[in-house]
Amino acid sequence: MLNIKTGDLANLKTELLVVMVCEDDSLSKDPVINSLLGQAGLYPEFRGGAGDELMLYAPTCTKATRVLFLGLGKSEKSNAETFRAAAGKAVSRAIKAKLDEVVFCAHGQKDYVMAMMEGAFLANYFFDHYKKDKSKKVLANIFFHVEKSGQKSFRTMAGKIETTCKGTVMAREWVSAPPNDKRPDMFARSIVKAADKENLTIVDLDDRNIKKNNMHAMLSVGAGSDTKPRMVVLDYRPEKYDKTIVLVGKGVTFDSGGINLKPSNGIADMKQDMAGAAAVAATLITVSRLEMKHRVIGVLPLVENMPSGNAYRPGDVIKTASGQTVEIGNTDAEGRLILADAISYAVRQYNPDTLVDMATLTGACKIALGPKIAGVFSSNDQLAGQIVRSGTKTNERCWAMPMPDDYRDMLKSDIADMRNVSKSRWGGAIVAALFLSGFVENIDWAHIDIAGPAFADNANAYCPAGGTGFGVRLLVDWLENL
Ligand code: BES
Ligand code: MN
Ligand code: ZN
Repeated sequence: MLNIKTGDLANLKTELLVVMVCEDDSLSKDPVINSLLGQAGLYPEFRGGAGDELMLYAPTCTKATRVLFLGLGKSEKSNAETFRAAAGKAVSRAIKAKLDEVVFCAHGQKDYVMAMMEGAFLANYFFDHYKKDKSKKVLANIFFHVEKSGQKSFRTMAGKIETTCKGTVMAREWVSAPPNDKRPDMFARSIVKAADKENLTIVDLDDRNIKKNNMHAMLSVGAGSDTKPRMVVLDYRPEKYDKTIVLVGKGVTFDSGGINLKPSNGIADMKQDMAGAAAVAATLITVSRLEMKHRVIGVLPLVENMPSGNAYRPGDVIKTASGQTVEIGNTDAEGRLILADAISYAVRQYNPDTLVDMATLTGACKIALGPKIAGVFSSNDQLAGQIVRSGTKTNERCWAMPMPDDYRDMLKSDIADMRNVSKSRWGGAIVAALFLSGFVENIDWAHIDIAGPAFADNANAYCPAGGTGFGVRLLVDWLENL
């Protein structure tokens, strides 16, 4: 829980007060903070430099039993992410110390306080559902001490941030869940259960309905699995709206590669291949909780890509919902196939003003941009720019990638309308985006490849290893500013 506190810090009773300082800026004019900084200054190891830390026990000028100072370095070099990360670090420390609560001194700039709230909330989380030992506890309360004049606006802000970050945590939970506990039917049920409590209309298509809608690409990808494909649609429709936005999320609950089976090192983390669907589902739930002004629809194709006697094969030609045929060059390029059908379905059913898809689509994108940055592909530079800007703000970073027309030749097939892969290995993320563009007709569209940032091998300041929930804060920010 994020909470706001005001009042004289001298009387503040807490187990831990956190004070952030820059090398050249104390960030607060509060006399108690000043006096605490004086005490901290007696220790030469703390100068407010980036990464400096000092814990004071039983300081004299407040009733707080501990004060943690965190150095942020030079103020001109610090930004929202500096504060987000520092707040995350403080919460992790508090959890380790088995505390129940923490109070952040939040007397600085508004956007920095917002970032602190995000970092603190997101760090107050771990995934222990499959562990017997549940002795590790998250903090029950996270307080922000603010100046009295701003308390009302900070309280509203905290509520919004908490709602949004809960969405991130929801996506993390889904992505980190093991693949035996989120096969398409189970994942669909879990999404429906979460969405049922919200102001959302739910459409839940089973394989027969998927067939009725001619989504044979989805059926082909799911054919090797004993668990049939599902398609879940979450529709948020406010009474009055002028824009309709569709979000499509790739939901491959486990990507073995199919008959083009992945090697041991590539297959291990493929439970993450539904991270796009997780982010979109959590975004819709968040959108409804925030009562946004646009109509937003989440379209979630859910399948498991497995090899079996019934699996689709390299060489197969399948007919997509759009009517276009695809020759399968590689059964491991399954994401674009299910997205193709989902995009056609979404365009036909909802005729949106803008469609954005989010997908752990290509290893090539992860190679190009590394594990922390997503690729954005759009023929509309303005739309790509909006998404990149939201990425900078939320630190769910995105980089605009090209979609050169002449690269389309790489997807030419001798016998079908197109192939699902290129014959060469170059430009894999771009080729995948170009494939998708063949299904969006003339809708304003962007594709976000999150193969890198959806899943973390290592923890960072405010996210443990595993599902990161990447995309929820990004999409919510983008939608809010539309
Ligand atoms: N799900 C993978 C992409 C992926 C890789 C996601 C690493 C997250 C981390 C996707 O379905 C895939 O297998 N793509 C192939 C495409 C290739 C066969 C053209 C790839 O990237 O190798
Ligand atoms: Mn694959
Ligand atoms: Zn995949």
